[in-house]
Amino acid sequence: MIDFIHVTKSYPNGDIVLNDIDFSVSPGDFIIITGESGAGKTTVGRLLIRDLIPEKGKILVDGVDLTKIKPQNIPLIRRKIGFAFQDFRVIPDKTIGENIIVALEIAGYDAKKIPEKVKHTLSMVGLAGKENLFPGQISGGELQRASIARAIAAEPPILFADEPTGNLDKKTSLEIFNLLQKINSDGTTVIIATHDVTLINQNIGRHIHLEKGKIVKEEKHQVEKKEVKE
Ligand SMILES: Nc1ncnc2c1ncn2[C@@H]1O[C@H](COP(=O)(O)OP(=O)(O)O)[C@@H](O)[C@H]1O
Ligand SMILES: [Mg+2]
Repeated sequence: MIDFIHVTKSYPNGDIVLNDIDFSVSPGDFIIITGESGAGKTTVGRLLIRDLIPEKGKILVDGVDLTKIKPQNIPLIRRKIGFAFQDFRVIPDKTIGENIIVALEIAGYDAKKIPEKVKHTLSMVGLAGKENLFPGQISGGELQRASIARAIAAEPPILFADEPTGNLDKKTSLEIFNLLQKINSDGTTVIIATHDVTLINQNIGRHIHLEKGKIVKEEKHQVEKKEVKE
């Protein structure tokens, strides 16, 4: 589903962030990319949605090489990957429901089905009844749920969640982690970028540990799998 092949990425200041990285993701995987702040986790996500291009190597999503893709085909790739941003990026002057509507509209979702889909998605992430609240009126954990809801609303086969527990307490972090596991068991391939030891210590999924531009450790833990979205 995803292949990083000899991927090297540096930023204009010359620092190499990812140095000849190889890894693959299969449909249904639950992957946790770990590493200290600055290790390159967000860079992996930005490469995956073709927000960045590597200097060397290939990034394949369903066999399509993102380093060669034409600009007009970028939206097709982005529909395959829901991205829950570290800073949420919800629109502050729209309600939680309206934020989901915008995401569905951008994804070209059938307009007639949008109201039902908004309800279903909010209930899925545990925000039933919060549809008419504004982002400033909900808690940090709920904001993270809203951000995840927006990322998965149009049912992309892959979800990339960047530091989904960034500013949350341990209990709320585990609730978000449980939600991500539920999304995975419903068939979505989930990739989490985190430096949160609370999540890492759950020993669930496959861990890819980044250090000094390299993958220094890959560990596989048991994860329950059901039917997979392709
Ligand atoms: N747009 C950018 N320009 C220059 N350097 C960047 C940029 N984005 C990230 N970096 C640098 O790349 C490194 C990896 O960043 P990032 O992928 O955000 O790490 P992580 O998500 O693991 O904290 C850091 O040293 C960061 O300062
Ligand atoms: Mg990051």
